Amino acid sequence: MARPIGEKVVPAREVFLELTKEVVDRMQGAADPRFRDVLTLLVRQMHAFVREAALTQDEWRAAVDFLARAGQLCTGDRQEFILLSDILGVSMLVDAVNNVAGPGISDSTVLGPFYAGPQRELKQGETILLRDEDREPLVVQGRVTCSAGVPIADALIQVWQTAPNQLYDVQDADQPKGHLRASFRADANGFYRFATVMPVSYPIPSDGPAGQLLQHMGRHPFRPAHVHFMISAPNYRTLITHLFLAGDEYLASDAVFGVKPSLIVRPDPRNGVQTIEYDFGLAPDLRLRHPRQP
Ligand code: BEZ
Ligand code: FE
Repeated sequence: MARPIGEKVVPAREVFLELTKEVVDRMQGAADPRFRDVLTLLVRQMHAFVREAALTQDEWRAAVDFLARAGQLCTGDRQEFILLSDILGVSMLVDAVNNVAGPGISDSTVLGPFYAGPQRELKQGETILLRDEDREPLVVQGRVTCSAGVPIADALIQVWQTAPNQLYDVQDADQPKGHLRASFRADANGFYRFATVMPVSYPIPSDGPAGQLLQHMGRHPFRPAHVHFMISAPNYRTLITHLFLAGDEYLASDAVFGVKPSLIVRPDPRNGVQTIEYDFGLAPDLRLRHPRQP
């Protein structure tokens, strides 16, 4: 339709700027200043996005429907929003903003949706399997230290991984609960050791909105084979990370962007068993020095 003569054309990126100001102004009374600042940024960036994309009403409705379907899928064992955050690189960015590795400090990566809280504590060297698996045995061992290499005795090391059928116990009613996950304590020299089987690459759950989004983006849902670690000790920042197996075909295209070169390991045979030797360095918990941080 021809535009009436004299009508002023407002470029999309300048449409209704006073609305953004009004939404931001109206939250100035928020009690929590951090909340106010973060939400102010969010509103500004969302409004800028809507303007720049010149979002159509159909697209807005599709987005709302998409998020509603993601919410409807969430249960105690299924977290579709973490998946969405992961496949869009947001989880790795939050991790990067909050965890700077440095000399003697291990790289972190995504938590993922399959951490199931603290698990049974096993003794040094015990297996995390609750049933036999037809897969090559693997031993993982090393030390937990501070950045200067001093052992952190008693550090809590929580580990979890998929079974050879590409599923975590929490996704698979046929696996015993707690299969392929457990906790260990580092000994007085910071040493830890456990037995498991070789992890396998696997697809993240792709039967919901996250899977549909991957498909629309022309991407596959696979993660390279890895073992998860969460390592904590008083006065240190909790380290959330994985170890990935060298040679995996998905190392360069992890569906959640979680791979860092320092986390890729190649097991070698020791006493006839494939063994990964890996030392973890924990960063000091700086919140202790800046108590006002949340
Ligand atoms: C995982 O490694 O367990 C994982 C991480 C992100 C999304 C899905 C699974
Ligand atoms: Fe995983």
